[in-house]
Amino acid sequence: MYNDIESWKDKILFTPGPLTTSRTVKEVMLRDLGSRDYKFISIVQEIRNALLEIANVKKGEYEAIIMQGSGTFGVEATVGSTVPPDGKALVIVNGAYGKRIKQIADVLKIDAVSLVYHENQSPNLEEIELTLKNDEKITNVWVVHCETTTGIINPITEIGEIVKRYGRKYNVDAMSSFGAMPIDLKLNNIDFLVTSANKCLESVPGCSLVLAKKESLLKTEGYARSLSLDLYDQWKGLETTGQFRFTPPIQILLALGKAIEELKNEGGVESRGKRYKENYETLLKGMNKIGFKKYLSDDLAGYIITSFLYPNDPAFDFEEFYKRLNEKGQVIYLGKLSDIQCFRIGTLGRINKNDIETLLHFMEDTLIEMNINMR
Ligand SMILES: Cc1ncc(COP(=O)(O)O)c(C=O)c1O
Repeated sequence: MYNDIESWKDKILFTPGPLTTSRTVKEVMLRDLGSRDYKFISIVQEIRNALLEIANVKKGEYEAIIMQGSGTFGVEATVGSTVPPDGKALVIVNGAYGKRIKQIADVLKIDAVSLVYHENQSPNLEEIELTLKNDEKITNVWVVHCETTTGIINPITEIGEIVKRYGRKYNVDAMSSFGAMPIDLKLNNIDFLVTSANKCLESVPGCSLVLAKKESLLKTEGYARSLSLDLYDQWKGLETTGQFRFTPPIQILLALGKAIEELKNEGGVESRGKRYKENYETLLKGMNKIGFKKYLSDDLAGYIITSFLYPNDPAFDFEEFYKRLNEKGQVIYLGKLSDIQCFRIGTLGRINKNDIETLLHFMEDTLIEMNINMR
């Protein structure tokens, strides 16, 4: 299976994750460490402290919890552990990941309602307010910050203000924004924020991260509907012994520690955001020139991931386009929209403006090879 591994050439991933990571992040995984090794325990502690620092909050106000598994495991842990036994969730949906939160609540048999908006539409704040006003049973409100389905940025500050006014808990899926978009947890009244090691933090996949307002977290003891995905218990374990309750993904955490060090060296969230913005602007300019149109309007689009409409030419075959680009070492991503054919290009990960320019160049070549009329 791996007899040709020496000749493998890493492709550049313009995807929403897994994404391109630095060689140095991957290299630190070439180590074995016991889960009770003092070195490992101190790395975990440093990661937890650094996550609070990235979020610009103090220990004691907020707590950082690491969960084994991909982003969905962190979301599922948070859905299942933060809604009280007789509570109810309101899920604001304008894409696949919002839909997934509602699905998780349904599977866990948690009472939940959703407000569903089209994928290119910002949630209606008045409707959210009215829903909270009319339904006192709702205890937790969920929204996705950057809905990776399209790249739309949802108004977490405005929603947070309403949630606070109605005294409910505020849960935010910031999977694809944390680390590259500044998020003020306190200003936004966020009680629980879920993110991933493998998006803007530029580490490898395998763990999800939750930032919890301590006061709110302490109230959730005994709420969990799962043993392994018990957020409170996971925090208690990390806090009291410094250890994970169950086998930790050692190498993945080593990589995360390194990735966080590299985020600091880059200049933090603002500098990373600046690089992604430059990637995005380069991409948009180039795609416009080629003749591609983006799906979202400018006021709704973020700079993390962008959805582009298929060209009008009926000869365009996305699978073929994808395959040919892949053969050139460029990996883009399929779309996930309910009614329109789109593909996505991520501008996150260890990529820069030059990588985007190379991708644009290969796209142009590929369209010519495929004889696609872009006019
Ligand atoms: C906003 C958002 N939420 C949740 C997830 C799920 O994460 P994972 O695929 O790592 O389980 C993703 C993945 O892309 C995401 O973008």
